[in-house]
Amino acid sequence: MNQHAKIEKDKAFWLNGNFAPVFEERTETALTVTGSIPPELNGRYFRTGANPPSGETPHWFLGQGMIHGVELQNGKANWYRNRYVRTPMLEAGSDPMAAFDDLTQSLANTHIVGHAGKILALEEGHWPFEMTPELETVGAYSYGGKLQTGMTAHPKICGKTGELLFFAYGTKPPFLTYHRASAEGELVQSEVIEVKGATMVHDFNITENFVIFMDLPLVWNLEGAAKFGLPIQWDDDYGARLGVMPRDGSNKDVVWYDIDPCYVYHPMNAYEDGDEIILDVCRMAHSMTLDRPDVPPVLYQWRINQATGKVSERQLDDRTVEFPRVPDAKVGLPYRYGYTAEFADGLPAAAAFRKYDQQTGTSTAHDLKGRMGGEPVFVPAAGASAEDDGYLLSFAYDPTEDKSELVIVDASNVEADAVARVHLPTRVPFGFHGSWIADPA
Ligand SMILES: [Fe+2]
Repeated sequence: MNQHAKIEKDKAFWLNGNFAPVFEERTETALTVTGSIPPELNGRYFRTGANPPSGETPHWFLGQGMIHGVELQNGKANWYRNRYVRTPMLEAGSDPMAAFDDLTQSLANTHIVGHAGKILALEEGHWPFEMTPELETVGAYSYGGKLQTGMTAHPKICGKTGELLFFAYGTKPPFLTYHRASAEGELVQSEVIEVKGATMVHDFNITENFVIFMDLPLVWNLEGAAKFGLPIQWDDDYGARLGVMPRDGSNKDVVWYDIDPCYVYHPMNAYEDGDEIILDVCRMAHSMTLDRPDVPPVLYQWRINQATGKVSERQLDDRTVEFPRVPDAKVGLPYRYGYTAEFADGLPAAAAFRKYDQQTGTSTAHDLKGRMGGEPVFVPAAGASAEDDGYLLSFAYDPTEDKSELVIVDASNVEADAVARVHLPTRVPFGFHGSWIADPA
């Protein structure tokens, strides 16, 4: 099967070039490295994406999940593996749009996270799929049958308590459900949250005491499928609001704040400061409208004042950035540095990793010099004291070689050359999200 990233005229971007799927599952142990892998990086970097086995999908989000991983140990790269998540959807070749009522029918293509000793491959309409550290599929995971909905691909692990806070959205009532799992991985709370209708809720926010839902105007609409490949569409009449709820609260405790309509796939982080909740997000002014082309995401800040009931917003930068990440230990807490993929050429792939200093309002970048990367995942250095004392990990595609690398960048000095590049014998198609899952201490 041809693995080469050929550009084909008239094909959608997600089926073209290095967005196109690969068709072989490989295990490679003879990996060459440029530079030095920091010896304290002991664990595995996993990243998932949509990889349609047929080579075709109507939308970038709809291919079956394939996870790519590299194991690092004592300064060595032990292996690269790529594996499909073996879901019933993959095995049967079913239509992803025809199976909303069966929580096992996941594409499992959006994120992979580690929590309470389990590795979970996530999509946003169905149950997680548990994976082994070698990327074999264990099966659908439902918290012992307690989870009665799907799980967002963007659960939040509290940097302080280790709890996993998440939600699910539905195309019929309940449209939004909140869930909380303990640090030990037990589902301890599920609450229906009342919203006006079915919208695509891709992500949410947590702080030390609250969760903040984003109820934004991308509504469920089967007519959208014809134009956008997904059954959702912008609705000028839906409005937009943020819902603040104590982390152990319920629907009656939610305080809703109206904001200007927009869409946010991914927040960078949120935290509390006195009466205020600060949310830094990658905001699109609108998306999936019938009459206006999509606008690129830029970094915005919302400040919710819980005393006055007012929300202020301001644009922090005009660069196109997405896939924002902060150190796992800072999720929901005051932070200084956020890391993003800076897009180029109108495509969702990174020409650079841009690091924002939220204290000074400045940014610096790691230029990938012709390679194209994705979401930069922060991994702390051993004995780190400064917040940015650590590394950024991402796969990057080299078009001249038609192969990819795992790049490791010094997060405290992003403008410097990568500290290590693990050369892979194949390309890794551009994908979505990933995690560093450290070996147990
Ligand atoms: Fe996402």
